[in-house]
Amino acid sequence: MGLGAVIFDLDGVLTDTAEFHYQSWKTIADELRVPFDRAANEPLRGLSREESLARLLGPRADQFSSEQRVEIARRKNDEYLRRVEKMTPVDLAVGAAELLSELKRAGVPLAVASSSRNAHAVIDRLGIAALLDAIVDGNDAPRSKPDPQVFLQAAERLGVPPGECVVVEDASSGVAAAKAAGMRSVGIGPRGQVGEADHVFDALQELSLQMLLGAPARSQTRV
Ligand code: BG6
Ligand code: MG
Repeated sequence: MGLGAVIFDLDGVLTDTAEFHYQSWKTIADELRVPFDRAANEPLRGLSREESLARLLGPRADQFSSEQRVEIARRKNDEYLRRVEKMTPVDLAVGAAELLSELKRAGVPLAVASSSRNAHAVIDRLGIAALLDAIVDGNDAPRSKPDPQVFLQAAERLGVPPGECVVVEDASSGVAAAKAAGMRSVGIGPRGQVGEADHVFDALQELSLQMLLGAPARSQTRV
């Protein structure tokens, strides 16, 4: 695979903040007496806060004024930030530090492209900012995945053509965004989530520079 740059999603790839997003939405859903569980949370991966709330409320969305929805989204974010504040470099996904360092040593430009408006706070807590050549978040790219905006901005900042970028994602919406950006994709997680990616792995620790350089297109490690 031609490897001009690697663009990592953040939540659910470099760290398990996807679990924090779930727990925070679950608290809010319970308060509102809206049914919500892990299965309902899966399709929310990669979607913006506002889009996630709209999906969570479903047909009940009409029962809330736009001011109420803003307030609910604010409360969810407070819940989320309480969890982020406790993060340390120990919360990096297994193998993430090694992979980022290996790619950095090989001179591969690295970016994080996240729909989250909290991405900088999470990256600071994880202590990986110095390894990254670009960080594009939900403030920079307001159109959240599956729109390709966040990945295209990352490629532009790195100065690498989209066709030479490889995206690492845990979300169906993220894989779709990578495709729409004209980028190759590596999916981390169940095939139900990331089966559309060009390569699929159970966990980030299975990825290496060698795999990213040498894997034939559309190889899959699992049946
Ligand atoms: C994405 C997460 O990275 O960021 C989504 O996968 C989340 O679950 C989205 O909704 C927006 O995050 P935030 O931190 O701006 O609410
Ligand atoms: Mg993600």
